[in-house]
This record gives sequence, structure tokens and C-alpha cells, in this order.
Amino acid sequence: MCGIMGYIGDRPAAPILLDGLARLEYRGYDSAGVAVAHNGTVAVRKAAGKLARLREMLEREPLPGTVGIGHTRWATHGQPTDTNAHPHTDESGRFVVIHNGIIENFLPLREELAARGHRLRSDTDTEVLAHLIEEEYRGDIVEATRRAVSRAAGAYALVVLCAHEPGRIVAVRMISPLVVGFGEGEMLLASDIPALLPHTRDVLVVEDGELVVLTRDAVRVETLEGRPVARQRLHVTWTAEQAERGGFPHFMLKEIYEQPRALQETLMGRLDGPDSVTLEGVHLDAAFARSLEKVWITACGTAYHAGLVGRYLFERVLRVATEADYAHELRYRDPLVEPGHLVVAISQSGETADTLAAARLCRSRGARVLAVTNVVGSTLSREADDVLYTRAGPEIAVASTKAYLTMLVGQVLLTLHLARLRGALAAEATRHLVEELTLLPRKVQEVLNHPAPVEALAREIACCEHVYFIGRGLDYAVAMEGSLKLKEISYIHSEAMPAGELKHGTLALVTPGTPVVVVLTQRHVYEKTISGLQEVKARGARVIAVAYEDDPEIEKHADRVLRVPRTHDFLSPVVSMVPLQLLAYWVARERGHDIDQPRNLAKSVTVE
Ligand code: F6R
Repeated sequence: MCGIMGYIGDRPAAPILLDGLARLEYRGYDSAGVAVAHNGTVAVRKAAGKLARLREMLEREPLPGTVGIGHTRWATHGQPTDTNAHPHTDESGRFVVIHNGIIENFLPLREELAARGHRLRSDTDTEVLAHLIEEEYRGDIVEATRRAVSRAAGAYALVVLCAHEPGRIVAVRMISPLVVGFGEGEMLLASDIPALLPHTRDVLVVEDGELVVLTRDAVRVETLEGRPVARQRLHVTWTAEQAERGGFPHFMLKEIYEQPRALQETLMGRLDGPDSVTLEGVHLDAAFARSLEKVWITACGTAYHAGLVGRYLFERVLRVATEADYAHELRYRDPLVEPGHLVVAISQSGETADTLAAARLCRSRGARVLAVTNVVGSTLSREADDVLYTRAGPEIAVASTKAYLTMLVGQVLLTLHLARLRGALAAEATRHLVEELTLLPRKVQEVLNHPAPVEALAREIACCEHVYFIGRGLDYAVAMEGSLKLKEISYIHSEAMPAGELKHGTLALVTPGTPVVVVLTQRHVYEKTISGLQEVKARGARVIAVAYEDDPEIEKHADRVLRVPRTHDFLSPVVSMVPLQLLAYWVARERGHDIDQPRNLAKSVTVE
């Protein structure tokens, strides 16, 4: 995610762009920049860090002009540096672009451009677009943009300003959001409605595959092929705060609903074919993979729960002994980490103090550290030998949701990558897994399309004092995360354990009416889990099952069933976690809690 803003009118552009970017900072905040057209040129100011740095820069070196574009970045390609900040230009500085999303084929495009003599300055995927537009320019910026984007693949929103044609701003939407705002004698453009609200409530939502041309008093909408599109403007009644959450009452719910999109981003450009996975920051080679004898996964909280899934995948698929350990435990137990071992350190923020310390310890013992993180340029990403970015986009709610799902998919990609290097998975099995992987965004969307059973269940259990979560294998990993989600925002006491463990003690706490959530997707332990379920049922527990939609048996054993689409058993956590996220959310809402900022917690724990 990134935030995009554009203005064309009679007022000074820079302050309007800065104000819009401040409202879009929730979409990304690692660097920011603006470009303003004036006297036949376009001047750019940009800086890594928060918007305040750009603001200071503009105070020192103001940009006059009434047409401009601005960007607040959430890095996906290239570290958050001044050079990588947007806007980007061609070498002459006449063609200026900002962009949100990913240009999947930027590497071959970069090579092509370099071979034709272009000198690219940044590490971003964006910059290639400025150069492509420059190559395609024959006096009409709209046509040049159209031709350039026909060569780019991916999901993005792009905005273009040209020094030769300062009377118009051109933008293209290919999946990433873009909204046009109608002012009095001025037009605006933004990634999201909140940035427009101080100026107008009349908007037009640009659709996928559309190109828009903004002039001072009009907008022209057309398809990428150049056919005109007639579109009604909408009148928005949201407040700025509501709009920032995309109309959702809480960031957590918004982020849960963003998951299909986030998963698409995690996968984008990384599956070249059924048996080829490209992970841009991961440089493991076949020799390392083949001689690998031990993997350590380390993390805290939700990231640790994602790691439990990784442990299972690595062992089952790669046949490598794998331990998953809380970072705060690993760092103090003098672990038997050795050179040649792989340490997978997982952290959404990349700044969790314990995870950093554990990763440093392992690295000092000669292990190779691979970071799985969401934040480009985070401390973990800088200190690790290899980095796999999850690309979930900024996660604002304290309770992690989309970061977790993308960590799961990131680890599946890593498993496939290592499996290929080790020759550990047969071609047919790989193909099946890859096929199912690409279907996950749609399957998660299906779960999100039917929230009613979860909402009803939330009303039933909102007044309970204890809830237990059980499962076996990967279902146990999901039970752990389901339990954490519930307790951290609903403040209901909850515990998770392997389904086989219940009878060794905790069963004593199950009394008539106690909710027990059982996650039940793993074929090879299905019957065993059903036995555990019978044990709690015999004690009067209220059994809530999360099961595949085509499970014919489960209704006989459970009081309530939350159905999810069937997928490969290795991928089931990605779909089975979603109803549990919704359950936690709706229970907390029923109890009237501050969902996005639960008591006593912080988003990033940067102290021991
Ligand atoms: C729970 C949650 C926390 C984090 C944990 C690690 O919803 O968000 O448990 O998962 O603090 O944070 P990161 O992933 O940033 O290292």
C-alpha cells in the first residue's frame, strides 16, 4: 500500500498535497514526496522518513505551482531511502510518476531499458514507468501513458505529470484504488476518500483497467484501449475518520476484509509456473538447501503462531528437523544453533526486541538468518541474510490479522522454494499445492462473504468467561492464534491446546455450556480429533467446529459449525483462521471494547 494524491486548480498545490498525504499516512509512512509543475518544469521534493521531513524540506525550499502530485510510501521494492521515495522521473526530469502497487515484470523491463541506454537511479519498480513513458512520448502524455502501461504487468495505481503538458494529470487504475474528487474549478485525485474530504464530497471511483485525465474543471474517463466511459459521480456522507477506515467501523475489520487483496500481493510475481518460485530477497542456493539439517523458527505472539505452521510445513515437506521457539525463550536457552542452520525470524514490524535479539544471537553463532517481515527497511530486514517480505501493507489494528495470513503464505512460498532446491517434493504434488495456493485469495473472500453465522455465534458466547480452542497438527496452530485473537480484544479468558492434550488436565475445567472451539481440517487426524471432541461433548461443552464446507460428518458432533472452503490440507490455516478472526472481532464488539487499541497492549513491542 501507498498513498497517492493529485491536485490541479488555481490554489498552491503543495499544501493541498501535504494535507492529503497526512490523511493517507495510514497507507504507508516510510518516505514521502511531491512534484509540482511550474513554468514549464516539474520540480520534485522527496525524503525518507515521516511526512514531517518532507514538510520541513518544503518550508526550506517551497514549490510554487498549482498542479502537482504527491506520494506517501510503504516500500515494496527497495529500502525506504531518499532516492527510492516517489515521485520518480526519467533522466530528463520531464516525466514524473508516482505509483501504488507492484509492477511484476519490472526486472526484465529494467534490463531492457538499461540495454537501450537508460540510467535508472532507484531500486524501485516504479522508476521503469517514467522511463517507459519517456520512450513512448510523441507529444501526447495520455497516449504515452497508455502505451507504457500496456508493457507493465501487475496490480497498481499510477499517476503521471508531464512538464510539457502541465494542464493535465493522467492516472491509471489496475486493481489498486484511485478516487477522483470534484472541486470548484479544481480537480483532485487520491488513493482513498479521506484525503479528498476537506475539498469535496463529490467523488468518482476509478475502476480497474481505466485511465483518467484530469484538467482544472473536468475529468475524462476511458478504458485502457481508449474507449470513453460514462460514470456517475457519488456524494459521500462519511466523516474523514470513517473514510480513513474505508467505511469500516474499525481498522481490524477493514484489515480482515483486506486479506484477499493482501494475499494476492504476497503471491504476486513470485510463482513463475508450477515449479518455480521467485523470492526476490532470498538468496539460498541448492548447496545450502541440500545440506540443511536444521531450521529454527523464532518469533513472538501472532508471528510465533504463524511460525508453528511453518514448522509443520518444513518438516512435512522438506523433511528437515525444525523447531519453533518463542524468541524470548530461544535467546536465553543457549540453543544448539550452528553454522549451516537456517533461522527463520518472523515479525510483522521487524522491530520486536526479543525477535531481533534471538536473530542476532543465532547469527553470531554462524546460522543463516532469513527474515519474514512486513516492513521494508525494518531492523530485522536490514540485519538478516535473506528477507521475504509479506507485503500485507500497513497494519494499524493492534490485533494482527492480515499480517498473519500473509506470513503463512510467505512460508508456503519459502517451503516450495526450498523444496525445489532440495528436490524434496514431486512435480505433481508441487503443482497441486501451487494451484491451491493461487486459489486462496478467492477462498478467503468466500469466507468473508458469509459473516452472518459468525456474528450470531459471537452474540451467543460474548457473555462466557472461558473459551477453549483445540486442534491437531496445523489445526492446533490455528487454535493457538484463534485463542490469542479472542483474548486480546474480548478480554475473555481463553486457552488453546492440542486436542489430545485436553484429557491430561484441562478437561477438568470444562463444565456444561463451556464453549470449546475445535478446528477440524486435517484429514490424517480427523478421527482422532473427533474423539477429543466427544470427550468435551460428554461433559456438556458447547462445541463449535471450524470445518470444511463439504464435511458431511461434523454436524453430528458439533453444536455450531463455521464452514470454510476446502483447500490443500497444508494451506487450511489460511482459510480456517478467518472465521476465528471475525469471531474475536464480533465478540469484542458485542462487549463494547476498544477493538483497535485493546487495553495494556502495543502494536510493536520494542522492549524486552
Ligand atoms: C497479536 C499481535 C502480537 C504480535 C507480536 C509480534 O495480535 O499482534 O502478538 O504478533 O507482538 O509482533 P511482530 O510480528 O511485529 O514481531
